[in-house]
Amino acid sequence: MSHAEDHAGTRRDFLYYATAGAGAVATGAAVWPLVNQMNASADVRALASIYVDVSAVEVGTQLTVKWRGKPVFIRRRTAEEIEAARAVALTDLIDQNSENANRPGTDASDTNRTLDEAGEWLVMLGVCTHLGCVPLGNGSGEFGGWFCPCHGSHYDTSGRIRKGPAPRNLDVPLAQFTDETTILLG
Ligand code: FES
Repeated sequence: MSHAEDHAGTRRDFLYYATAGAGAVATGAAVWPLVNQMNASADVRALASIYVDVSAVEVGTQLTVKWRGKPVFIRRRTAEEIEAARAVALTDLIDQNSENANRPGTDASDTNRTLDEAGEWLVMLGVCTHLGCVPLGNGSGEFGGWFCPCHGSHYDTSGRIRKGPAPRNLDVPLAQFTDETTILLG
């Protein structure tokens, strides 16, 4: 793919995210798993990993990047957000699996969902596990985390589903710090 095509694709996708209404995003959700399955081809695999510079992400803010065609939320949580997430009993959770590709099979304790031990960095796919809309962040919803306006799913400050039709916590993708200010996705 040439740079020009690549750029055009990026712009098109950006416009899609920026302008799509709830209905259109829900339709897109059905397409994503399909696209994911086609990721086997070598040229697409080459895009499987990206480095993200997080040096400008301040506490209490979220950076959204696009990775493998999906939005990824990189949230640098406040002490209050961490405390709220860690105070929740597992038995209060709808989905008790961490849904963390870095720690498969672990429970949904907040410590199993964050990138660092202190729990400041939370990296998740910005894709509602109901029908794939992009949830709103910045303390949205009844649990102070994310809220999906399509059908009303509320996620807490750990990205765990707490209320609404979504069946699973927001997925945590393969991610790691490669130095103090760089996160490798994939
Ligand atoms: S897509 Fe239905 S609640 Fe998010």
